[in-house]
Amino acid sequence: MNTPLVTLSKRFAITRELTFRDAGDGFIVIDILNAHCSASIALQGAHLMRWQPKAEQPVIWMSPVAKLAQAKSIRGGVPVCWPWFGAHATESSFPGHGFARTVLWDVVNTKKLEDGSTSISFRIADGVKEQWPYHAPVEMEMIIGKTLEMELTTKNQGSETITVGDALHTYFCVGDVRNIEIRGLDGCEYIDKVGKEKRTKQDGVITVDAEVDRIYLDQGQDVVIEDPDMQRRICIEKRNSHSTIVWNPWIDKCKKMGDFGADDGYLDMVCVESANADEDLVQLAPCQAHSLWVRYSVEKQ
Ligand code: BG6
Repeated sequence: MNTPLVTLSKRFAITRELTFRDAGDGFIVIDILNAHCSASIALQGAHLMRWQPKAEQPVIWMSPVAKLAQAKSIRGGVPVCWPWFGAHATESSFPGHGFARTVLWDVVNTKKLEDGSTSISFRIADGVKEQWPYHAPVEMEMIIGKTLEMELTTKNQGSETITVGDALHTYFCVGDVRNIEIRGLDGCEYIDKVGKEKRTKQDGVITVDAEVDRIYLDQGQDVVIEDPDMQRRICIEKRNSHSTIVWNPWIDKCKKMGDFGADDGYLDMVCVESANADEDLVQLAPCQAHSLWVRYSVEKQ
């Protein structure tokens, strides 16, 4: 059931810090403004669309022509991929990256924290039963401040073991993707969704000068994006994430996708996704929970 805007505001708004608005056709967006940053989140998908620490350029990329529409995923921000990543293992008609990014989530709680950050938590009230016939709800907690923390928790409340794939499919803003270096994946094996060699080992830092679409496996370390043009580094700390996906569509795919804005709309973004995908899927026995956690921060170079 859709909770009306007035009810959400009455129950969860925090004066001058967290507000709800209708961005058009009932598409609800939550705006946050606190001592450390500003941010916006779509209720659909619990989809963080913007996070900008004070005195800093935006950290999260959003397509200039992103559409906010019911049941459609948003190009940019932090789409939540759940309960599977990529194509469904057996059902090709099920949506890529799962249904969590296109369904409405419930707000569970909002809170002003002592250090000036804001916390907000969500859960999926009703999953798509035909696609996920399990009693396994999912929750998202965000702590939005000088750093951005996100924790995606799956609880298996059913009586059989389930398999979960998940990802925080974060689009980061960069000055020019051709000049960045991504560190932390040296020596990791990856599945290359673009190249001819299906399995490869990373040698050194990652640079981007063509389409990149890779699933780094069995990789739990933190990752850093060095961005000389913006004179900053974005640090990605993570827990319970054994895969990292690095994605940039490059020119042809960007044109084909049509929702990146200009033809060179791929140049100021890169996706570095903290995930459990492919061989790193999570098996959850009854009564077990799994929390994928990340924290993003920005440092001057
Ligand atoms: C990445 C995948 O995670 O998401 C890519 O590895 C995919 O293959 C990209 O193209 C975007 O997916 P979508 O469904 O948001 O267009």
